[in-house]
Amino acid sequence: NNKINIAIDGPAAAGKSTISKRVAERLGYVYIDTGAMYRAVTLHVLNSGREVMENLNDVDIRFSNDAHRSIYLNGADISSEIRSPEVTENVSAISSIQSVREYLVQMQRVIAADKGVVMDGRDIGTTVLPDAELKIYMKASPEIRAKRRLEEEQERGVDVDLSTLIQQIIRRDDLDMTREISPLRKADDAILLDTSHMNIEEVENNIIRMAEELL
Ligand code: C5P
Repeated sequence: NNKINIAIDGPAAAGKSTISKRVAERLGYVYIDTGAMYRAVTLHVLNSGREVMENLNDVDIRFSNDAHRSIYLNGADISSEIRSPEVTENVSAISSIQSVREYLVQMQRVIAADKGVVMDGRDIGTTVLPDAELKIYMKASPEIRAKRRLEEEQERGVDVDLSTLIQQIIRRDDLDMTREISPLRKADDAILLDTSHMNIEEVENNIIRMAEELL
């Protein structure tokens, strides 16, 4: 009954959350979407002003325990709001602020303290859980990531075009990779998984195999 922690990092729209959710479900682990936490703080700042960052301890972020993994900000379900274009546009800037990172990283470490967590984000392997037993860095070309995102958006009935999505993805990656504190990068001991030519099941099975070797 040796639980491990699994850190999954990578650029925007690499499929981290889809894969992490499925891996967590198969192992009976808890899935934590740290991007959703940065999005929640960003939404709060957009709604209430930058002053809220002076009292981050008042920002109560929780996840539901069911398969939906809904996210709550001060009691309100904000799961869909955090996916808005406005939040996506502003999240990298808010995520680069030191006090925001310190607050959320500390929360993330508490959640992972008892092991049995699959956590996805940008700095999990490098900063949040440097001792995670399994670290994955997922990559795929911006074009492929944008195409996958386009299909998702079309299924949801959202009208976007591919070139806009590619530009947004490249811009967000650039901001996340060049920021001063905990920029997006592969941890030295992370396993690089290029998912460009893999489907969801293949990526999932790959990670499960690696996890099972460690259990
Ligand atoms: O994963 P997602 O695309 O929802 O993340 C939204 C943003 O949150 C990222 O572009 C990045 O700026 C920030 N983020 C971060 N560190 C993490 C997870 C997300 O800075 N661990």
